[in-house]
Parts: sequence; C-alpha cells; structure tokens
Amino acid sequence: MNNTLEDKYLHDSGSLAKPPGDFSGQVGWECPSNVALIKYWGKRPVQLPMNPSVSFTLREAKTKITVDFRSMPGHNGISLKFYFDGRPAGSFGERVRNYLQQALRYLPFLDRADLVINTNNTFPHSTGIASSASSFGALALSLCSMEKMIFGTLQSPGAFLEKASFLSRLGSGSACRSVYGGFSLWGRTDAREPSTDEAAVPLNTAIHPSFSDLCDTILIIRSGAKEVSSHEGHRLMEGHPYAAARFSQAQANLKEMLGILGNGDENAFAVLAEEEALTLHAMMITSRPGYLLMKPNTLRAIDRIRHFRSDTGLPVCFTLDAGPNVHLLYPARVAPQVRSFVESNLSVLCEDARMIHDGVGNGPVMLNG
Ligand code: DP6
Repeated sequence: MNNTLEDKYLHDSGSLAKPPGDFSGQVGWECPSNVALIKYWGKRPVQLPMNPSVSFTLREAKTKITVDFRSMPGHNGISLKFYFDGRPAGSFGERVRNYLQQALRYLPFLDRADLVINTNNTFPHSTGIASSASSFGALALSLCSMEKMIFGTLQSPGAFLEKASFLSRLGSGSACRSVYGGFSLWGRTDAREPSTDEAAVPLNTAIHPSFSDLCDTILIIRSGAKEVSSHEGHRLMEGHPYAAARFSQAQANLKEMLGILGNGDENAFAVLAEEEALTLHAMMITSRPGYLLMKPNTLRAIDRIRHFRSDTGLPVCFTLDAGPNVHLLYPARVAPQVRSFVESNLSVLCEDARMIHDGVGNGPVMLNG
C-alpha cells in the first residue's frame, strides 16, 4: 500500500473532497522553464517517460500564474475562466480545463471551486521557446498552494514540491523538472535513490562548481510554432525502429551525466550534451513519417560552435530542444569571451539577431499567500 505516489495521492484525495467550510483566496507562482541535458523523448500512459532525463531550470524564461478561487456550494464540475496576457485564451485554456479535469482525481475539491486563472510569460514574445513546462509547473504549484491554504496539508517543503512535480507531469512531462531550482532528475534509474517515473527529484547536492553557474544563451534561429508538436514526436517513438536502442542509451548516458555533473569534466560534458541533442533530432528524422526541425542556420551555428571550441579550447557546447533554436552552454567564468564570439559569429544566424542570455536559476517563486 502507498508504494507509488499515485497510490499515496489517491489515498489522500479521500480527505480532500470536502473542504472544512466556505473558502476563497488567491495563490500564485512564477515558474521557470527548463532545458534537458539528457532528453525525455518517448512516453507511455499516463505521461510516464520511457527513459530518465536530467535538466537544469532556467532563470529568465518564466510563466506567472495567479489563481483566484472561491467555493461554490452545491456546484459540481470545473468552473474556470482563463486569461493569457489579460485576454481570454482559447486553445491553451481548453488544455488547462482538460488538465484540471484530470487533476480532480487527486484534488477533488477543485470540483467545488470557481477558478479565475491569469497567466503571462516573461519570455520575449514569439521566440518559439516552449512554455508548457513553465506553465504547468506554475499551475501545479498554485494548485498545491490552494490545497495547503484550504486543508492545511503539504506543510513540509519536500511534500509540497513532490506533489507539485507529480501534478505538473500530468500537464506536460518536462514540467515536473521545473518545480526545482538548479538541476533535476526525472525518471527511474538505479544510479540515484530516490528516483521515480512519477515525479522529478532535485540534484543540487551533487553539482560541481563548473556547472552550478552554467550559462545558456538561447539563439532564436526561428520563432513561431513548430511544424510537429512534442506530443506528436513522443507518439512517433512508438514502433520507432531505434526506440529500444535509444532508451537504453539514455539510461547509460544519464549515469554518465550524473558522474560528469559531480566531477566537473567539461570536455566529457560537451561530448555528451551534444550527443543527446543530436540523438533527439536523429529520432525525429528517422521516425515515420520523418521530420526535420533543425534549420540551415541551426547547422551553421553548430558548426561555428564546434570550431570555436576546437580553436580556443574554451568549454562551450550546445544542446537543442525539439525545435530549431540552439542553447549555447558555457560556465560563467568564460562568459566575456563567449559573449563576444556570439555577437560576432552567431547573432547573424538568429532571427532579427534575437537571443536570450539565460542560465541555471533558483527555481519557482511564490507570488503571494
Ligand atoms: C525535447 O515535456 O514538451 O524538450 O510531455 O508531451 O508535454 P509532453 O512533452 P514535453 O517534451 C519535451 C521533450 C524535450 C526533451 C526534454 O525536455 O526532456
């Protein structure tokens, strides 16, 4: 009994069905996005990863959410008004409504509340940077704050963040890693206890100083919507001819990355981070139907970054999300040299010379309550 988080939260939900009286209030969180070094690509129901992943949480790219709530005695069903940048938001609002419907299993009191959710991103507009991780991170944290306010549960920070991570995973897999600052791990691996497919765990204790202040300059090669969504990309891993090999490679790479993050080997870091990024795109290229999210300037940037590394010996490397933009990774101590290389050689490859200077951040911040 209570062996899994699913069991535990379902068990707890019994006492979360009937609030102790009328309630109302406001909760809010600001939650950053995150960048995976070992990639989650391929999942099984319900939002469980086919392999473990490791990421760091960003500092600048964030979503803010506030939830105004009040009890509606006698009401049953999700009552939601959802605003993005102050305006009613259509398709994302629907995704959130479906998400809340799913979250009812664990938070049955949501059925008796009227919710007004306001959200906005701090990302520069239309950069093509995925916001689902920061959005569902901020939303799940806010729902946990609601639970805490109404029922007095989730008092310990560990229990609070574990449930927020579990709940955010149901909205978007990678979101579960965003509830922690610094580096986090999601997915079962025998290299780390505890680890589970159901939620992320923080990795902060084992990070070498070379990586704890890692910078990430995000080169906006092309903004706008991706041609193939991550949702579809994960689905195309089902029956993919290289899937089994990829999942076992990811297990091995994850162990190696945990070692590197602890021992500070910057050369090994570059090799592994780039291998993971290119393997992710190799999976897309070789799925059926295959597709390419990299653009010519993505490849030009990769080429220039690799030449810069071999010419200067500086510890710079790249990773990629499921899109054309390039994340240039380097320790803070080499930032001046790397920034001038970026200005002189990489900014011309970016759409309107757009880039975001980001890096490892401290994690979500509560806005009130
Ligand atoms: C390439 O978390 O966006 O960024 O669970 O369907 O919402 P869903 O997918 P999502 O996939 C992210 C994939 C990735 C790699 C990673 O973040 O690990």
